[in-house]
Amino acid sequence: MNIISEKIMSIGVVPVIKLNNPERDAVNLAKALCDGGVPVAEVTFRAAGADKAIKLMRENVPEMLVGAGTVLTTEQVDKAIEAGAQFIVTPGLDEEIVKYCRSKDIIIYAGCTTPTDYHTAYRLGLEVLKFFPAEQSGGLAKIKAMSAPFPMFKVMPTGGISLKNLGEYLSCPVIAACGGSYMVTADLIDNQKWDEITELCKKSVEIAKEARNNG
Ligand code: 3PG
Repeated sequence: MNIISEKIMSIGVVPVIKLNNPERDAVNLAKALCDGGVPVAEVTFRAAGADKAIKLMRENVPEMLVGAGTVLTTEQVDKAIEAGAQFIVTPGLDEEIVKYCRSKDIIIYAGCTTPTDYHTAYRLGLEVLKFFPAEQSGGLAKIKAMSAPFPMFKVMPTGGISLKNLGEYLSCPVIAACGGSYMVTADLIDNQKWDEITELCKKSVEIAKEARNNG
């Protein structure tokens, strides 16, 4: 498995971040995540300035693994790479973007939830898929059912993950890591509740350890 995927897998959770004020919040947020034992972030292009946030995190918190999320175009792939992104996440499976990322030598986690998506991902040689939106698409039951014909994939479910169901997901060996915004909500970030974010990360890491030990 790719070294970035291995690192994400060992952390177990990937905060999915929308930053409205990168200059003010990016570095503080990155430090809060690292302090909580979660040195990884998916910074989404849902907010303008995502590339600025990625750059600030990479430059100021070098131990952090920083990726770009909600990437919808090859232009955004370019922006993300230029900012220093180490992985790309797309909500769906776009063949052109997958091939483009490969040509740029950057790993991509493309959103897949159907047998057709998985089949195309197999043809494209992907190894780790984003499973999005996880809960709304059938959750762990669907992920397990899909792994019968497609045992070659590890998946990163996001969408509807919280401290309540994190352990259940992570105890399934098909799961590489879980993505979520529960530890980086708009309220937590906009009100700069860095200690709370760190606490939520610590709890997530504990749950991940326990789930993996029992899984
Ligand atoms: C994503 O893009 O991965 C999701 O929006 C995260 O879903 P959540 O907000 O339900 O955690």
